Amino acid sequence: MITVTTRDALQCELEAARADRRRLGLVPTMGYLHEGHLSLVDRASAASDFIIMSIFVNPLQFGPGEDLSRYPRDLARDSVLAEERGVDLLFVPSVDEMYASPPAVVVDAPGLTDRLCGRFRPGHFLGVLTIVAKLFHLVQPDVAVFGQKDFQQLTLIRLMVRDLDLPIQVLAGAIVRESDGLALSSRNVYLSEPERRDAVLLNAGLQSAQRAFSAGQRDAVTLVAAVREKVGSPHIAPQYIELVAPDTLDAVPVARPGDVLALAAHVGATRLIDNHVLTDALP
Ligand code: PAJ
Repeated sequence: MITVTTRDALQCELEAARADRRRLGLVPTMGYLHEGHLSLVDRASAASDFIIMSIFVNPLQFGPGEDLSRYPRDLARDSVLAEERGVDLLFVPSVDEMYASPPAVVVDAPGLTDRLCGRFRPGHFLGVLTIVAKLFHLVQPDVAVFGQKDFQQLTLIRLMVRDLDLPIQVLAGAIVRESDGLALSSRNVYLSEPERRDAVLLNAGLQSAQRAFSAGQRDAVTLVAAVREKVGSPHIAPQYIELVAPDTLDAVPVARPGDVLALAAHVGATRLIDNHVLTDALP
């Protein structure tokens, strides 16, 4: 695995890969890698034969008072994990390398970036779309892989690719969970022991709603109430629990298979997100 920190060095390595007629697969991350990130490398490997991973904690997607300065980082460990998993090229730019000056032009999806998580993190998705657009332009991958864990992010990136005619195939990776159901997240390291125990209730709530759906329940209010009932704990303060259509993020009053139950909650001081795609299959 080769590691580069500048855009010039990145171009050099990509030129060589393109000259070899390799199909390029991009996996953007903010590092502190876990099995969720690494599963995206597997997904990329199945669809391409030269894997670029970026590690960049993007200041533009953090609001004031969020965890930018204390976001967990361990590049030495990340490099070993990425190489073991088959990443060919690791791109680890500095903030100055990516934003020499504050961007005058940004990417946004008005009306969609202020829903769900965006309601509580103004400017977050503008930051995400802008950095992902920059990475797409720098790498020009054939495929790019994102996790279903960040469901709204995945939807917005798909819409950006569609609406800006970016010649990139976006693939989704399934949510990777701990054995007790908690979705893997770099932020799980912030949880105290009792918070960690209660954090499983987020997925338990989603599963409870899935069971109700499997038993024939279709009313969104009832399904959301099933989640809310389960996540009740002194450690958990939900920000939102909503049933939405996956492509439009519109609230859905009557649930159909494929609709997404999405939530964000503070577990102690840590903000976690999770979601579940309702399915006809038995849980
Ligand atoms: P980050 O939170 O590091 O996540 C990088 C990628 O890993 C995202 O596509 C995310 O959805 C995926 N991921 C995280 N946890 C996962 C899990 N448990 N299972 C499956 N996939 C998981 O998301 C970002 O970084 C940033 O917003 C980024 C897209 C890199 C732009 O800065």
